[in-house]
Amino acid sequence: MTPSEVYQHAAYYEIAMGFVNIPRQIALLEAYIRAYSAIPVRRVLDVCCGPSPQLREFARRGYLGVGLDASPPMLAYLHARAAEEQVRVETICADMRDFALPAPVDVCYILLGTIPYVGSRQGMLDHLACVARALRPGGLYLIENLLMDWVSAVVGNRQDWVMTRDGITVTTHYQLDVLDPLAQTARHTLEFAVDDHGQSVRLSEVCVVPFFFPQEFISLVELAGAFDLVGYFERESPEPLRRLSNDNMVVLRRR
Ligand SMILES: C[S@@+](CC[C@H](N)C(=O)[O-])C[C@H]1O[C@@H](n2cnc3c(N)ncnc32)[C@H](O)[C@@H]1O
Repeated sequence: MTPSEVYQHAAYYEIAMGFVNIPRQIALLEAYIRAYSAIPVRRVLDVCCGPSPQLREFARRGYLGVGLDASPPMLAYLHARAAEEQVRVETICADMRDFALPAPVDVCYILLGTIPYVGSRQGMLDHLACVARALRPGGLYLIENLLMDWVSAVVGNRQDWVMTRDGITVTTHYQLDVLDPLAQTARHTLEFAVDDHGQSVRLSEVCVVPFFFPQEFISLVELAGAFDLVGYFERESPEPLRRLSNDNMVVLRRR
């Protein structure tokens, strides 16, 4: 499976997502590790890593980082940026539902609403089986933004923002609309309108993604068999999730 055109232009993607405070995000992942990992962490896996400023930040903090993504341009960009910043990362080009690592890792994470790319319930089970093989017993799998809140998506979830760096401006439009409540699917739209030093580039992705209702996801984790659910947490702090929201962090621990 080749990711769509929005993921073939890593520099534009990184500019579009430049609103994320990376040191704060990594400090939060470290807080989860301190609180819930049963093993010490040295080797980390960023699933669907994209340009991964996160892995570069982990490397600066002394960890060994591995990035997995199905887009070769994303991984080439990650290597180039890591070389510029004089940090080391390893990468694997593979589908999130069908991969095996040469060596196990101590923690895995997937960020920024990427988990729905598993595509289906079977895709989620295939993905969890791959993560289970990759992760040492006692290690965590941290999932940011499990798509569980279809209630607010019913009214349409739209976000638009503009980011500029190095003379390039990326205007992003993201939208989620419930497509079929019976099948629990939504239409996901991601569009970049880029002004690259006067040259205009438009990139878009429209695809169907599944919702995983909170109790249904727990059943899937039980069916997968290799993890305990540590809990549903707030996205910005390791506090239990107070209400249904796609702004969440799901924490699983490998048995
Ligand atoms: C929303 S981006 C997330 C990037 C990064 N983790 C972040 O936080 O900004 C989704 C990434 O998933 C990758 N991707 C999409 N479908 C995939 C799949 N089936 N297997 C592996 N990678 C995939 C894309 O190439 C893209 O880099």
